[in-house]
Amino acid sequence: MRDLGSKTADQRVRTLADGKQIPLLGLGVWQIPNGPTTVNAVRWALELGYRHIDTAQAYGNEESVGRALKDSGVPRDEVFITTKFWPGAQDPVAEIERSLSRLGVDFVDLYLVHWPQGGPTRAWGGMQRAREKGYARSIGVSNFDVRELDQVIATATVAPVVDQVQFSPFEYRQKLLNAAEQRKVAVEAYSPLGTGRHLGNETVKRLALRIGRTPAQVLLRWCLQRDLIVIPKSTHRNRIQENARIFDFNLSEADMAELDALDETGGTDRALEDEWW
Ligand code: A2P
Repeated sequence: MRDLGSKTADQRVRTLADGKQIPLLGLGVWQIPNGPTTVNAVRWALELGYRHIDTAQAYGNEESVGRALKDSGVPRDEVFITTKFWPGAQDPVAEIERSLSRLGVDFVDLYLVHWPQGGPTRAWGGMQRAREKGYARSIGVSNFDVRELDQVIATATVAPVVDQVQFSPFEYRQKLLNAAEQRKVAVEAYSPLGTGRHLGNETVKRLALRIGRTPAQVLLRWCLQRDLIVIPKSTHRNRIQENARIFDFNLSEADMAELDALDETGGTDRALEDEWW
């Protein structure tokens, strides 16, 4: 088990296969409406030391992410920004140009194909062009299973460096994670709290009580110790702060095993249980 607990702030990053560094913790802004709620969440996160924000064209809140970034005064090059190509559109280059203008930045750090609609390789040429043009430093995918990942890798000039999928002890997609690691693809965990519903689980609560942490911290720490990048969402300042306090403790092997056993996917290599497109 890697000891992340003793790492200093600047070590809380992972180097991706393309050499770029990504902070292990980010604020996810899925389901936060454009406007003051997103502006506040992102502003608080930046104040509290987050340096990684994860948005998407489909979320409709890039503009507010951009406003908060600007208002924060944190230099652009200190913040890792991810957005995602909405696969209902045709051209990843045209769409990222719009994203950049909404975000008020010249480039994003990471641009992901949001889901494999129209086939896993359909958007990849455009994603590579977006990177060549300097609009995105790194490119990757989201909601891709192993087979889909392999199809992209087989045709790619520049391979994806990230696959962002729903991941938590309850969705411990072990085969997907192992396969991604073999392919040098970092896995990012979205909905690491199960959009809130895993927080009430008895095992998680009992473990949290025993070690003097909160259920959210336990679930997020599990992700770090499973080598995932993690992007919890919250609109509350105190929770955003709580979710960042995950670098100063370790879950024991026994705690990890207890959480692993909560998996409901059978260690699947699939990225999702149901497609929504
Ligand atoms: P809210 O945004 O009202 O704070 P996920 O990251 O898995 O999508 O989970 C997000 C959900 O969990 C949101 O409903 C969020 O509520 C809630 N949440 C996030 N952090 C915490 C926390 N530390 N304690 C309790 N609930 C939290």
